[in-house]
Amino acid sequence: MYHFDVATGSKADLYRDLLGAADAVTAGEPDAIANMANVAALLWQYLPDINWAGFYRNVGDELVLGPFQGKAACIRIPFGRGVCGAAAATRTTQLVEDVHAFPGHIACDAASRSELVVPIVSDGRMVAVIDLDSPSPGRFDAEDAAGIEGIAKLLSDRVNA
Ligand code: SME
Repeated sequence: MYHFDVATGSKADLYRDLLGAADAVTAGEPDAIANMANVAALLWQYLPDINWAGFYRNVGDELVLGPFQGKAACIRIPFGRGVCGAAAATRTTQLVEDVHAFPGHIACDAASRSELVVPIVSDGRMVAVIDLDSPSPGRFDAEDAAGIEGIAKLLSDRVNA
């Protein structure tokens, strides 16, 4: 059983502790699915005001649904389509304040209003993306992006097996 003390006072504290927890649950474990599953659970447990948290994996240059928490979601997303596909194709973080204004946004859950997607690159290969959805418009800011990018960096050689 894991027990983590994750401070929720400020985003800086929250992401520092979340990174530590993500490190603790994935250190030394080579199985990519197990690591993504535990990190999805941590994101879901500790990030407030989200309705989906999880991973899409790069399988044959297509995004395929990975471990997540939230409602059942679309399974396959071509690179370049929607917010996740844009992150995968450009290898850049996508911070979308209003998903209704994002061309090609894929509505897996009609409740989603804002979204943050961060690519995980390992040895030059785009291996997966971390996807967070919120029912609140403008839920994610630069601090969230930096925090999730830190987790993506930590996971770069832990989710590629
Ligand atoms: N909205 C995403 C699709 C994935 S779901 O949010 C889980 C997108 O446009 O890429």
